[in-house]
Amino acid sequence: PEAVFILSIESSCDDTAAAVMHNDKVLSNVVANQLIHQQYGGVVPELASRAHQQNIVPVIDAALQKAGVAKEQLNAIAFTQGPGLMGSLLVGTSFAKSLSLALDIPLIAVNHMHAHILAHFIDEEGFDKPEFPFLALTISGGHTQIVKVNGFFEMEIIGETTDDAVGEAFDKTAKILGLPYPGGPLVDKYAQSGNPKAFEFTKPKVPGLDFSFSGLKTQILYFIQKNVAQNPDFIAENINDICASIQHTIIKILMDKLKSAVAETGITQVAIGGGVSANSGIRSTLKEAEAKYGWKTFIPKFEYTTDNAAMIGIVGYQKYLHRKFNDKSVVSKARIEF
Ligand code: KG4
Ligand code: ZN
Repeated sequence: PEAVFILSIESSCDDTAAAVMHNDKVLSNVVANQLIHQQYGGVVPELASRAHQQNIVPVIDAALQKAGVAKEQLNAIAFTQGPGLMGSLLVGTSFAKSLSLALDIPLIAVNHMHAHILAHFIDEEGFDKPEFPFLALTISGGHTQIVKVNGFFEMEIIGETTDDAVGEAFDKTAKILGLPYPGGPLVDKYAQSGNPKAFEFTKPKVPGLDFSFSGLKTQILYFIQKNVAQNPDFIAENINDICASIQHTIIKILMDKLKSAVAETGITQVAIGGGVSANSGIRSTLKEAEAKYGWKTFIPKFEYTTDNAAMIGIVGYQKYLHRKFNDKSVVSKARIEF
């Protein structure tokens, strides 16, 4: 196959990211996190777009420099078109358009959710690539979906959340426990030293392959309020067990639906993607499913779980091979057709 260098840009939420790909290999993958949101307990869209404006040039410069690739060597620019925060998306989209115009090279718009799934096709030593068709569970701060992936550009959502995303369930749990934003990684950390059976939470009853997490959040809130009323030190004394029990419940919800999806489709290759796929409990539970249910599972390298530009770059590469280019009139989309 032809050798191409692609610069990819991701700016859909609160991470400014750029990567340089050489075909399906990652030469550099740079992410600038925006710590400003921590003090507000969530992403503030206006602040996110301002930070992207400040970060985008240095992040892209760093990605090119780390890759040892001059911008004149680039064959295409890929960028996140959506879904995401409009003000954030605009920064990456406008930059990508301008650079493609200046360098006179193709522009490639990428769906962020496709990218979380197709990150599994990045060429990495020790990581197998799934074969089509496979099932993908995408779990992030904004999405929870089970997708039947028939090909690089043929995907079908067969289940999704009817309210909160899994990442929100983690982050809102953390907030109730007084932990800083984003709380997902902290819940994971405390859970590792806790007893997952210490407290019991009921799982929501949702038809088909869909999910619901808002009831669980309310249940956790009442559980904490009730116990703190009796013992003000309840959270501090039980943080590990609380986190382990909540995480256990979330994993059980996800695994039950995945098992149903496998039963319905007969597909036993299962991949996970998105920020929450960084969760150690989810990763180990999915790994265990290989021996337990005979699945073949695909767990992304840690750096390709939370938002990054390499995942945008791998989709860019596949689109490049199929000459799926966009003209300069392409626009960002906060919501985008899957
Ligand atoms: O994919 P992502 O970086 O951004 C979105 O597109 O939303 O996902 C971010 C989400 C946050 O909710 C964060 O708390 C969660 O992923 N997350 C985790 C872990 N690491 C990140 N949740 C649970 N356990 C983790 N280790
Ligand atoms: Zn994401």
